[in-house]
Amino acid sequence: MKVPRILVTGGAGFLGSALVAEALAQGGRVTVLDDLSTGRLSNLSAWQDAPGFEFVQGSVTDEALVERLVAAHERVLHMAAVVGVRLVLAAPARTVETNVTGSLNVLRAAARHGREVLLASTSEVYGRREPPFREEAAIELPHPEERRWIYAATKALSERTAFALARSEGLRVLVVRFFNTVGARQRGRYGMVLPNFVRQALAGEPLTVFGDGTQTRSFLAVQDAVRAVGLLLETERAWGQVVNVGSDEEVSILELAQRVVSVTGSRSPIVRMPYREAYGIDVDDIPRRRPALERLAGWTGFRPHFDLDGILREVVAAAPRRRARALEPGR
Ligand SMILES: NC(=O)c1ccc[n+]([C@@H]2O[C@H](COP(=O)([O-])OP(=O)(O)OC[C@H]3O[C@@H](n4cnc5c(N)ncnc54)[C@H](O)[C@@H]3O)[C@@H](O)[C@H]2O)c1
Repeated sequence: MKVPRILVTGGAGFLGSALVAEALAQGGRVTVLDDLSTGRLSNLSAWQDAPGFEFVQGSVTDEALVERLVAAHERVLHMAAVVGVRLVLAAPARTVETNVTGSLNVLRAAARHGREVLLASTSEVYGRREPPFREEAAIELPHPEERRWIYAATKALSERTAFALARSEGLRVLVVRFFNTVGARQRGRYGMVLPNFVRQALAGEPLTVFGDGTQTRSFLAVQDAVRAVGLLLETERAWGQVVNVGSDEEVSILELAQRVVSVTGSRSPIVRMPYREAYGIDVDDIPRRRPALERLAGWTGFRPHFDLDGILREVVAAAPRRRARALEPGR
């Protein structure tokens, strides 16, 4: 089988770097384009000297650079984005510029050069619907004036643009709506819940549950997400479609905190924190989030290997090693 040359935008990030690892393991040649705004070179250090690997520091908003790189690759995994509630609230204009202009650059270049694109979208486009969230349901932006929805709006617009270019210019695109994806390398700095809980539990600090904690999420291990993406890329009927990638094991955030305390053996208390205190403004949170997985499972046969307990054990086991590494000189 011929392995395509792959461009991974945002490849120094949490999900992107895991996709890079898998593509290289499959014998692929991979170029990463990343501005290192939230991504880290250390996520890629294992492959920096690997044959067929190249890192380009730059932005997806640089149209000429994107044009040149897309032209030189057969497939683009477009992961680069401003992600995380905290970051989106702090930098709304940069969120739009990166997520909309950046995606437009990638999609247009891919259409021009006949390259195929996997576009990373998000479960946030389902808004405040009742789960399970089905791909064929309409996109929802519940409160357009509410700042947190700008992220969903940018992703929804990128999806629409991709399908418009598919119709008008024959762009081959696959849209993946990722639900919460977690793993050892994820950082909590921009508001990701699990790494924050684990850090707090291991440090003996209170676990801060935003809101009343009844809001639910479903968490997929990054290894499973990578496997799902790999299967989708090889599934012809997925191209030109939207597919959810996530877990349907729904858990409330309060219960997640309790399970983290239990797995870590921590004595930390669990405290509730109003959104206004957590983010500086009231945030319109999504009450429940769980994907419909008929497309993913039915089209590819995908089943997750990790359940939530397995994920928690792994993330917790990796956390002290990460702290120890962070103390090494030269990092
Ligand atoms: N992790 C999840 O749970 C999740 C859920 C839904 C959607 N997603 C989507 O998956 C993708 C990856 O998310 P992640 O969790 O790995 O986040 P991440 O922040 O770890 O990765 C994003 C990467 O994009 C890079 N980047 C940001 N702006 C850039 C720019 N202008 N030019 C080039 N690179 C830029 C960052 O440096 C980072 O490496 C995003 O598109 C995100 O919207 C992730």
